[in-house]
Amino acid sequence: MITLIAAMDSEHLIGRGNELPWDLPHDLKFFRETTMGGTVIVGRKTWESIKDRTGKAFLDGRVNFVLTRDPEKWQTETAEQGDAVCGPYFENSLEAAIERTRKDHPDFATEIFIAGGRGIYTHALDGNLLDRMLITHVRGQFEGDVYFPKFEGDWVGRVVENAREYRIFEYVPRPK
Ligand SMILES: NC(=O)c1ccc[n+]([C@@H]2O[C@H](COP(=O)([O-])OP(=O)(O)OC[C@H]3O[C@@H](n4cnc5c(N)ncnc54)[C@H](OP(=O)(O)O)[C@@H]3O)[C@@H](O)[C@H]2O)c1
Repeated sequence: MITLIAAMDSEHLIGRGNELPWDLPHDLKFFRETTMGGTVIVGRKTWESIKDRTGKAFLDGRVNFVLTRDPEKWQTETAEQGDAVCGPYFENSLEAAIERTRKDHPDFATEIFIAGGRGIYTHALDGNLLDRMLITHVRGQFEGDVYFPKFEGDWVGRVVENAREYRIFEYVPRPK
């Protein structure tokens, strides 16, 4: 199963600089619990922001793939900070990362999560790679400069969690 996972405000904002526009520990907990035991694929900038926030080069309990146009450089630079199982592993396309986790980390590849940022979300949506999306709709409008691509028409959503500050929807492709 390939799942896109994201959080956005009412205007589809997802980022401010290289950070999240909001501070929602419960949503981060949802992300952690949902992705645990799977593969998480992110862009190089999102990976750097996770590293700044957690102080670690990988999310524990998950296999971490990072997309960059220069995988060799980043793999070499990160060699000392990685984990034998979790990585991070660097690849130059979403398809290559998906193929490699299925081949090299089958135990972690049953659930694959595409976790941003914008370019990677766009590629996953345009390439029809997704089985579902888990989207946290944060209530209100925030300041920032990175937006989620448009997606509504082709997806059917249902609420899976309703909290004071946000609602989490699961979206599946609309039947043709
Ligand atoms: N709200 C959320 O759910 C959420 C989730 C994730 C991120 N964010 C936010 O989004 C922002 C970061 O997103 P972003 O869109 O600016 O950057 P990003 O997608 O995280 O990273 C962009 C980088 O990824 C690499 N890349 C992207 N597409 C690629 C492809 N098809 N093939 C190979 N490499 C590729 C390139 O790395 P190189 O330059 O190394 O070649 C590119 O510069 C931050 O503000 C972050 O907090 C929010």
